[in-house]
Amino acid sequence: MKKLVTIIGMTASLALAAHSSAVSLSFACDSVGSGYNECKKGADAWAKKTGNTVNVLQVPKETDQRLALYQQQLGAKAGDVDVYMVDTIWPGLIGQHLMDLKTAMPAAQLKEFFPAMIENDTVGGKLVAVPWFTDAGLLFYRKDLLTKYGYKSAPKTWSELAAMATKIQAGEKKTNPKFVGYVFQGKNYEGLTCDALEWINSYGGGRIVEPDGKITVNNPRAAAALKDISAFVGTVSPSGVTTYGEEEARQVWQAGNSAFMRNWPYAYDAGNSDGSPIKGKIGVAALPAGTGAGSKPSATLGGWQLAVNAYSKHPKEAADLVAYLTGKDEQKRRAIQASYNPTMPALYKDKDVLKAVPFFGSLYDVFMNAVARPATVTGLKYNQVSNAFSTAVYSVLTKKATPEAALKNAESQIARAKGRGW
Ligand code: GLC
Repeated sequence: MKKLVTIIGMTASLALAAHSSAVSLSFACDSVGSGYNECKKGADAWAKKTGNTVNVLQVPKETDQRLALYQQQLGAKAGDVDVYMVDTIWPGLIGQHLMDLKTAMPAAQLKEFFPAMIENDTVGGKLVAVPWFTDAGLLFYRKDLLTKYGYKSAPKTWSELAAMATKIQAGEKKTNPKFVGYVFQGKNYEGLTCDALEWINSYGGGRIVEPDGKITVNNPRAAAALKDISAFVGTVSPSGVTTYGEEEARQVWQAGNSAFMRNWPYAYDAGNSDGSPIKGKIGVAALPAGTGAGSKPSATLGGWQLAVNAYSKHPKEAADLVAYLTGKDEQKRRAIQASYNPTMPALYKDKDVLKAVPFFGSLYDVFMNAVARPATVTGLKYNQVSNAFSTAVYSVLTKKATPEAALKNAESQIARAKGRGW
């Protein structure tokens, strides 16, 4: 009996020791779609496993707003947030404030990611973030409505999309005045840079700034793209599309009020959630190609990483949380339960993942060939470049400038940002 008491006493004091060394982490994660809940599920599971706690913070919806906030915090060397979810375009912008995770992460796990993603997250030899989920622009369409109007497959070109959207919109508007053909991200922010890069690239109009640093934004193919797509505004797309981000577009679409939508993969699970009026009616395809020389389908590469604040007071635990969340099991859970694209090749061959999200298999090439924004080459100046581009595109969408004039303007602003070199 005496022995048992001692053992119980020992266990209690061990538990106490473990408890007193437990830490509380702050995690600035996601807020788009089911983002917050999914972050919390993962963080809670890690907390349960380790005895630590995680406070999942509320963050702004859009990437530009998040970046502005995080740059303020990091610029002040504030350690309040331990782990940040960072956009694929940010490593060059905030990498100097992020911890090098190369040795803090399990070596075997690091080998499981797509090498190009690890490369994107490596700045000056430091692994400043770990790939969590990747994104590529996709075309969402209503399977039921395509069938109803006699179409067998998704449109292959933007002009086919316009024709189909016109017909479906005219038919559906008779019973639903709110119905529109096509929604996308038309407001002036980073999301418009993503959409418009797809347009110009799909017409063979390059990548704004090429990987070698050359500024190519002002060219006739890019102008042709902007001319064609801007004609959607006020015809097959509502005039209000120039105020839409991802979530505004998704709200119209998920209410059953549009035939087509451009968005990221998360919209698949969201649209198929219980209670969604379009559950089971969603088709997913590659975005259309342009018409004319050099045209091809094109998707912008997006995605999010996890990073540890270099000023965190709990770097060890924070890195452990990052390792857990970016690990294969949690990525698999998030893929199946919320259609987040994994960052590990093996998960694109996983039967359970492919069953839950079939387009991870059928559109694998779209994800692999997605076009990166010129963030790596422009480094600290990426924001200026992206702003100049989206502002120019926005002026065309709102009919304030011709494509030619807008692109010329973007070119000179980008050249000014470049100065004597990137
Ligand atoms: C998505 C992408 C991200 C991009 C953003 C633009 O979140 O993953 O890379 O910057 O959309 O709105």
